[in-house]
Amino acid sequence: MLRIGMLTSGGDCQALNAAMRGVVKGVCSKRNDVEIYGFQDGYKGLIYSNFQMLTSRDFSGILTRGGTILGTSRQPFKLMRVPDENGLDKVEAMKHTYHKLNLDCLVILGGNGTHKTANLLREEGLNVITLPKTIDNDLWGTDMTFGFQSAVDIATDTIDRIHTTATSHSRVFIVEVMGHKVGWVTLHAGIAGGADIILLPEIPYDIKVVVDAIKKRAAEGKHFTIIAVAEGAISKDDAKLSKKELKAKKAKENYPSVAYEIAERIQKKMDQEVRITVPGHTQRGGSPCPYDRVLATRLGAAAAEHILEGDFGYMMAIKSGEITKVPLAEVAGKLKCVDPEAGIIQEARMTGISFGDR
Ligand code: F6P
Repeated sequence: MLRIGMLTSGGDCQALNAAMRGVVKGVCSKRNDVEIYGFQDGYKGLIYSNFQMLTSRDFSGILTRGGTILGTSRQPFKLMRVPDENGLDKVEAMKHTYHKLNLDCLVILGGNGTHKTANLLREEGLNVITLPKTIDNDLWGTDMTFGFQSAVDIATDTIDRIHTTATSHSRVFIVEVMGHKVGWVTLHAGIAGGADIILLPEIPYDIKVVVDAIKKRAAEGKHFTIIAVAEGAISKDDAKLSKKELKAKKAKENYPSVAYEIAERIQKKMDQEVRITVPGHTQRGGSPCPYDRVLATRLGAAAAEHILEGDFGYMMAIKSGEITKVPLAEVAGKLKCVDPEAGIIQEARMTGISFGDR
């Protein structure tokens, strides 16, 4: 008997179901003595032994379904060793569940925080294999995470729709795109949607440069401007502050989000109508795009191969179009940020996009 535990952890994204389907189809095509334990709501299910027994039939018809059939939750890595209200050590509890159920391995689908915990479980002797999910595309070791392209599609569609109304009203529009720590979705949706200014956490902006870019467009007869802003975009002045100072400043200013802060700063410097659009969680919702369906299926099938071979301790990844494996120890704790010097940034600048920095 092959006993596989499976869980999805962290913020959901498109193609989680497609990836799990890939794993199950792959394993069940070679073995018919498989038991699948689906843990509910991420690591929580493993900690508190909440699971459902699933069969390959449960994974039929879910290729196109958004969200996750297992449910998910955020279980911060820093709290993993902090006992819960009943004094339970969460890592020991997860090990206990794993051994009690006599599992052969755990398939874990998640982003950055999830991978830190997955690596910890590996260090504790569990057989772990992971799949890189997140709209943020910030997992180190893979060129792409599933969820990313679907989110880019949605954010691009938002920018497309804003374009027509911004033009009609000669307004400045700020579209706030998901991504607190990294700006991958904003960068790609911004370029694809024809944004005029793109503000990313990786390239601190100067509000004077942003305002000058808007004025320059107006002088050229373009009386509207689209600004794509990542949730974590930061000004040059704020980037100089310590984490503690920045937190205190943000708490004092109390803007609902970064788009409101930037809108106010622009309006202080020029007489211009500014509107804000925040697509928010729609970027993580709905059916995965075809690219994500293919990527997730390939990653899932590759994970199945490793499970059948008993080869654990890896994240499945895509590099230069090929599926490969990366040791979990290398992935855990590293963030893949946008490189301000990367070709894509230089090419975007060539087309006249301002990153608000110079
Ligand atoms: O990590 C994915 C992500 O969608 C980020 O882009 C975003 O900042 C965050 O999750 C939102 O988290 P939550 O769903 O907990 O509000």
